[in-house]
Amino acid sequence: MEDFSTARSFFMSTEATDTTGKTFAPIEWLPQGKVRFLDQTLLPNEERWVETDDHQVIAEAIRRLQVRGAPLIGIAGAYGLALAARAGDDIATAAADLRSTRPTAANLSWALDRCLRAVDALAEAHSVRERLTAEAIAIHEEDIAANYRIGKHGAPLLGNAPVVLTHCNAGALATGGYGTALGVIRSADKAGRVKHVYVDETRPLLQGSRLTAWELERDGIVCTVIVDSAAGSYMRRGGIDAVITGADRITANGDVANKIGTYSLAVLAGENNIPFYVAAPTSTLDLSLASGDDIPIEQRSPEEITSVGSRAVAPAAVEAENPAFDVTPNDYVTAIITENGVARPPYTASLREVCGSEVPVRG
Ligand code: MRU
Repeated sequence: MEDFSTARSFFMSTEATDTTGKTFAPIEWLPQGKVRFLDQTLLPNEERWVETDDHQVIAEAIRRLQVRGAPLIGIAGAYGLALAARAGDDIATAAADLRSTRPTAANLSWALDRCLRAVDALAEAHSVRERLTAEAIAIHEEDIAANYRIGKHGAPLLGNAPVVLTHCNAGALATGGYGTALGVIRSADKAGRVKHVYVDETRPLLQGSRLTAWELERDGIVCTVIVDSAAGSYMRRGGIDAVITGADRITANGDVANKIGTYSLAVLAGENNIPFYVAAPTSTLDLSLASGDDIPIEQRSPEEITSVGSRAVAPAAVEAENPAFDVTPNDYVTAIITENGVARPPYTASLREVCGSEVPVRG
């Protein structure tokens, strides 16, 4: 069993804005040129850290969801590229390996492209491995700082003593630390304002019950896990003040790709006049895509549905389909909370505004 003391001290210096929120880092660069990450497939039963100097181990960890969540896989990809450089591996091949692991989250390609551009811009005298290490650490630190700012912008939207519903895990575990949707909840809680959080269990891999509930319990934020299909009835009974989720990719028109089930939640929130908020850093924005129709949706193994652990929960030969994400059309999205401020409809204008001159570059 590990505690988080090392990880916490790692980013004491990076809490650039709001320094009082509680958090931890699920990944860490070690001074001897290795990466250490928390294996999220084992939570909440076991807190096991994996240490590696091999970018292929990072790629496999992303594929298997040992590290997961859009911003975190971007950070892990960047650290993976730094490991490849230190091992003398071909950088372009390593970037392609890492990029191929998961297709939907914008942050992975964004981070890899940023690292590749940093190498392209190098004067010859500089060492590629040092440059890539510095870039990966910067991406990590900037993500944590962005999450604190998302929390600051988003907390006032929740109002006083809200009962909030969330889906999947958009917490410290899904990011460099602190979280996006959970960052907003953490910031509101710090101001003494969160009454209760309902956590969708999030079938099939249970990121809600295994990860979000684990994070909220550690922070002492009162939460209740419900099955995904209960969310609508809780909303209808008047028990939910706001729904907030993270995002894997947001297109120029404000369509949002996020964990499968998010679309249903957004429609139910709209039907029940409940605000539906999305919290995400600008590195999740893909303004090169006009709409969510163009987002590639990851299809995962049907076995994630037909079995739970080693136990079958469906007939052996039955067909199952397992899209990991869905797309919520922008008209169900009340606001998108970024580190640079809150975007509201029409998103084609407001998302460009929150980016300012810093529109995330793709490719
Ligand atoms: O398949 P996962 O666990 O990587 O899916 C994660 C999500 O859908 C999160 O909501 C999203 O990445 C936002 S994380 C801040």
